[in-house]
Amino acid sequence: MKFNIDEKIFQQFQDYKLGVIVLKGFDNSRRVSSVESLLRGVCAQKAKQFAEKDIDQEKKIQVWNEAYGKLGVNPKKKSPSVRALLKRVQSGKEIPHINALVDIYNYFSLKYLLPIGSEDLDWLCGDLQLRFTEGDEPFRAIGSIEVEEAAEGEAAYIDQGGITCRHWNYRECERTKLTTKTVNAAIFVEDLSKIHFDEFGEILNEIAHSFIKYVGGTAEIQILNEDKREIDFGIQGRKNIDDSKVTAQEKAFFQSKINQDSQPRPKKKIEPSPKLIPVENKEKPQELRDSETYIEKIRLLVEQALIKSFPRPINIDVKIEYPNSPDHGDYATNIALQLSKELGENPRKIAQTLVDNIQKEDFIENIELAGPGFINFFLSKNALKEELEKALIQKEEYGSSKIGQEKTVIVEYSSINIAKPLAAHHLITTILGQSIYNIYKKVGFKAVSVNYIGDWGTQFGKLIYAFKNWGDRKQVEKDPIPELLKLYVKFHDEAEKNPTIEDDARKEFKVFEDGDQTNRELWKWIVDLSLNDVQKTYDRLGGITFDQVKGESFVEDKLNEMLSDGKQRNIFVQGEEGSFVVQYDDENIPPFLVQKKDGATLYSTRDFATLKYRIEEYRPLKVLYVVDIAQTLHFKQLFQAAQRFPWYHGEGEHVWFGRMRMKDKNMSTRKGNVILLDEVLSEAESRALKIVEEKNPELENKENVAKAIGIGAIKYNILSQNRTTDITFDWDRMLSLDGNSAPYLQYSYARAKSILRKKGEPQDGTMNDPEDIDQKISNLLRNFPKYQEQLLFAAQEYKPNILSNYIFNLAQEFNSFYNSVPVLKADSEEKKSQRIKIVEATSQILKNGLGLLGVTVVEEM
Ligand code: ARG
Repeated sequence: MKFNIDEKIFQQFQDYKLGVIVLKGFDNSRRVSSVESLLRGVCAQKAKQFAEKDIDQEKKIQVWNEAYGKLGVNPKKKSPSVRALLKRVQSGKEIPHINALVDIYNYFSLKYLLPIGSEDLDWLCGDLQLRFTEGDEPFRAIGSIEVEEAAEGEAAYIDQGGITCRHWNYRECERTKLTTKTVNAAIFVEDLSKIHFDEFGEILNEIAHSFIKYVGGTAEIQILNEDKREIDFGIQGRKNIDDSKVTAQEKAFFQSKINQDSQPRPKKKIEPSPKLIPVENKEKPQELRDSETYIEKIRLLVEQALIKSFPRPINIDVKIEYPNSPDHGDYATNIALQLSKELGENPRKIAQTLVDNIQKEDFIENIELAGPGFINFFLSKNALKEELEKALIQKEEYGSSKIGQEKTVIVEYSSINIAKPLAAHHLITTILGQSIYNIYKKVGFKAVSVNYIGDWGTQFGKLIYAFKNWGDRKQVEKDPIPELLKLYVKFHDEAEKNPTIEDDARKEFKVFEDGDQTNRELWKWIVDLSLNDVQKTYDRLGGITFDQVKGESFVEDKLNEMLSDGKQRNIFVQGEEGSFVVQYDDENIPPFLVQKKDGATLYSTRDFATLKYRIEEYRPLKVLYVVDIAQTLHFKQLFQAAQRFPWYHGEGEHVWFGRMRMKDKNMSTRKGNVILLDEVLSEAESRALKIVEEKNPELENKENVAKAIGIGAIKYNILSQNRTTDITFDWDRMLSLDGNSAPYLQYSYARAKSILRKKGEPQDGTMNDPEDIDQKISNLLRNFPKYQEQLLFAAQEYKPNILSNYIFNLAQEFNSFYNSVPVLKADSEEKKSQRIKIVEATSQILKNGLGLLGVTVVEEM
């Protein structure tokens, strides 16, 4: 059973995000007195807090009142759930005990002032969706025997049995309510108040842990938003609702839904093609627009038609999108709908005027007006054929652009710390950063990759102290990183018993900074050994390269100048006890410490000097920092302060990513999020080997193939997820042969290659349904021109998952082509050679695309 949020919700409520906690196998049958007392406690606390306060002035309630208002609902009559709870508490009443689960989430709902709701997963029928109602969906509120019908346009949770929750969170339905018998449930935590993603994750974590603590079972957390709208509950749900619990009206609705699904859907009155992928983003730079792509050509044609159709200047960015279904063409724009308000005219009429005025170039087969005012463009057969030839001629170069010429982008990634443990986020930055770098190179930029090693700072004082006291040179040389880590840990253990060694460590660092030769040599020795050691990991991952390895130490001799310049410009100002800080106008940004009271520099100071160096040395268009979300504030402080220096022109960009969540370990990553990378890689390889042995025991070179698959799976798993959500680590999904995974794509590639290997062998022709064949061929071909377009889009958003989605779609189209189009057995030589070309080009694009993601293809598997 799946759950998704309809994209129309986000068109109106852009900031909406939804935390979903899926709980399985718990026991909700008992009363848990500690939960009840928690609930009583929070009631008392909130009653006090809101004794003199209007709850509708509270921001977290306000956002919901506004959202209800926007949809024409009066929140005082139909109260958002959290408002209703708070109101009750404010008037001195308690929240009654219902059952443990409900008590727990009511407690959290009050604690964080977030609406929380739930569904019994075993009582859901078919997929669940949060969408606007059409008006025919039945709803039976908890405790009621009567069915009510929703109005049209409510935001509601709906499955095949009707509405399960009205108005986001206003009222839940009887059928899917949580009872003491419930064993599997989904808990929904809604947010409109723009809580920071990370903080929201923490809250969900806390709630999930509490569920496990009090009722047992397992929990899995996901955050849905505009970028990630769907999840799978991983549970069957009900196939029928014949139960005394359900009324006749609900059954009738259910039956009608089932029938609708089994029949071929009646063609809806030309449905407007909803936007699938926003191809352009307003503030995005011209630099990433390649006028050679069809999408750009079409955009230009529409712009010209606009000028011709409406002589007065219209200031609007024309967006071209990919329609959902091939029936709606290759490209589409809803510009007429956007203009209709401004021009005070019917959108269809505007669209018609535009269609009449768009110059019809040869590459366009047809321009069509659809729905309330969409304009759809179909590429011509000839254009598709030319694209195919282009792929075959350009080979490895296919997809590249020239737009980046003369422009530099610096991409900083990996940036591991010497003698500190490698964390999960270091794996992500390494893989993500490398891919972003690859993509930028492909679209023609001069890209410079930097590994900004953490090779400076007070941790070296500790390490030097530890090594001098307890270290063994031979041992460290044998196994550098683990041994250094041991020393580091030992230092901390000892310091707990005897805090004075902290001072000794600081002294060691000071002496080192002042140039003491012994300490300098020790430092150099440690850094070199560690770098050698990580290099082994990079080699194992494959394809990880750096144009520069310049650590924090690189700017050592630039720090004084940086500091005095900043002070002179009054950007670095006196803080407490002689320290120096940056102060911000924005009160949400705390002061940024750049020099300690003892004169020592910091991570921040080195980042200023490094940024200045990068800009002055390379004159880059952008400096990308591929660093985890935890450093968001640091980069905000850095870039905002940099604005005040003359050398900075907004180059810096924090390309952040979410946390790693381990699916298998029930979310309990070990403390500090430390991962043993080598172990993970070995496990991936051995799991992959098992698959290969099962699938193709005869295969030569099994170990190498398994390496490509295992490592590819890890990389692809990271790169195929939107970096701005949490990144889940799930072995099954990552290695599945029929999902959005590296093995599936490698398998598709190998399939294509196996056809090509046999192309010389004589075969008899077969006949298949020619119409179906044409359709499959055209569906596949129509993906080709999008390759370059999506590459540019991926570069623009710094999101390799845009590319991975594309590759996945291409592979799916190819597999459906493979299943119904005879290639070697085509019924004429001409068709055969044409189809071989298509297979060849497809395999080329798969290889190119996967290559940019760092995934190696295999010829056979
Ligand atoms: N070494 C740091 C860490 O592992 C990341 C460095 C990020 N880059 C920067 N320029 N500050 O946490």
